[in-house]
Amino acid sequence: MQVFYTGAEWTSIRLQFQSNNSTIGLVPTMGALHEGHLDLVAQCIQQADISVVSIFVNPTQFNNPEDFEKYPSSLQEDLELLEKAGVDYVFVPEVKTMYPQETNLKFDFGPLERVLEGAFRPGHFNGVGIIVSKLFNMIQPNLAFFGQKDLQQVAIIKRLVNDLSFPIQLEIVPTRREEDGLALSSRNRRLNKSDREKALILYRSMVLAKKELLEGKSWLEVQKKIHQEFKKTEGVDLEYFELVEPDRFELSTEFSTLKKASLCVAAYVGEVRLIDNLPVIS
Ligand code: PAF
Repeated sequence: MQVFYTGAEWTSIRLQFQSNNSTIGLVPTMGALHEGHLDLVAQCIQQADISVVSIFVNPTQFNNPEDFEKYPSSLQEDLELLEKAGVDYVFVPEVKTMYPQETNLKFDFGPLERVLEGAFRPGHFNGVGIIVSKLFNMIQPNLAFFGQKDLQQVAIIKRLVNDLSFPIQLEIVPTRREEDGLALSSRNRRLNKSDREKALILYRSMVLAKKELLEGKSWLEVQKKIHQEFKKTEGVDLEYFELVEPDRFELSTEFSTLKKASLCVAAYVGEVRLIDNLPVIS
C-alpha cells in the first residue's frame, strides 16, 4: 500500500496504469474508519483493478466549527486497517492541498438540499459538492463508492455526477449495523456508554414506523407517535423524523401514494449528532 499526499504525486502514479486500461476505484472518507467503511473498501477492491481511499476531514462541509474540531481522527489505525484490507493507495491531503485558496464556489442542488440535512446543516452539501468534485478531478476514478447511510448525500452526488458529466460509475453500499441495530458511524466513538444505549432509539423508531406504515397506519399518525417516543427519552433531541421519496428527497405526508419510500432520522444523543435511514419500499 502506498500513501500519497498531492495531486501531482497521484498523476505520476496514474500514468503507470493508463496504458493497460486498468480501472480505478475511489472510496472517499473522512477517516476514523469502521466496518462500514471497510464494506465500501471491499467492494472497491472487488470491482476495480486499482483501489484508492482518500482520508480528509473536509472543513467546508461542517456548518458547526465545534463538530469539525471534535470530529474523530485515527490516521495510524486507519492506515493499518486499509493495509490489512488490501488497499493499493491512500490519499491523505492537507487542507492547503485541497484548498490552496479560500473557495467561493456555490453549488445549489435545488429542492434536493432544501430539506433534512440541507435544511439543518446549511452549507453542508455545498462543501460535499466541492470536495467530491475536487477528489473526482484529482483522482479521476472510473468507479466511486459511497454509503447508503448518508442517503441524501447519495442523491446529491448522483445529481452532481449527472450535472457535471463526470464519467464515473457510482456504487452505493448498504448500511452496516451493530447487532442491536445501531448504524456504524465515526461519530459513535464519541458516545459514552449511556448515550450509546440511548442512540438505539434512532433505529428502533424507524423499525416501528416501518411496521406500522406497512400495517396501514397513516404517516401523520406514525410520525406523531415517534415524536412522542423521542420526547420521553431524556438526553436525546430529535431534529427530524421524515418519510421521503429517496430519489427526489421530497417530504411525504401520504405513504400510500409512494412507489419508493425511506424513513430518515437525525437526533442529538448528548452532544453527538447522529443520522440514519431505513428503506420502507425499495
Ligand atoms: O461521507 C463522507 O464521509 C463525506 O461526506 C465525504 C463523501 C468523504 C466527503 O467529505
